[in-house]
Amino acid sequence: MKTIHIHDLTFQLLISRHEIEKEVLRVAKEISHSYAGKELVILPILKGAFMFTADLVRHISVPQTLHFVTLSTYGDGTSSTGKVNHIQGLESLDLAGKHVLIVEDIVDSGFSISFLQKSLHTQKAASIEVATLMYKPKAFQGENLPRFKGFEIANDFVVGYGMDYAQRGRELPDVYVKVGEKEA
Ligand code: IMP
Ligand code: MG
Repeated sequence: MKTIHIHDLTFQLLISRHEIEKEVLRVAKEISHSYAGKELVILPILKGAFMFTADLVRHISVPQTLHFVTLSTYGDGTSSTGKVNHIQGLESLDLAGKHVLIVEDIVDSGFSISFLQKSLHTQKAASIEVATLMYKPKAFQGENLPRFKGFEIANDFVVGYGMDYAQRGRELPDVYVKVGEKEA
């Protein structure tokens, strides 16, 4: 099995680019079907969701606009701090009457998406849903799991396909899971 090293950690291949491609298509179809006849405002959460978003929107067949927001939660560690440090990109955003789809790379505790959802509360959107490529059901502490979900994974730390470990690994086309410390 292919392993890689990032900083002090060792990772092993978990989900290949081919599996990702298939799942992204499936999720995009589900979204297109659910919003048939409507228009979407897509709100990807940077930085992690950039790759998933780029692949996903190519297969969403309803009219859409894109608006990127930046949230930071994790710091440089491998477990969720549960704290959102800042949120950027909500200025001059008017979502009144719009169907909003938040796009996330991975949902862990669920604090990030619930923070963003709360921040959008005053906007009077017609609907607000979440699409995530991956989620960790055992870590989730929110009320509702995202409406559109890709891979369910264990409570492990992953990198690749937009997701980072201390800012590294986002460019990897496949997803890798942490298997241990790098040997000296
Ligand atoms: P939550 O707020 O605990 O749900 O964490 C969600 C955010 O933390 C995501 O947007 C990711 O950026 C990051 N995150 C959560 N789990 C992982 C992981 O396993 N690897 C890399 N980033 C992660
Ligand atoms: Mg993120």
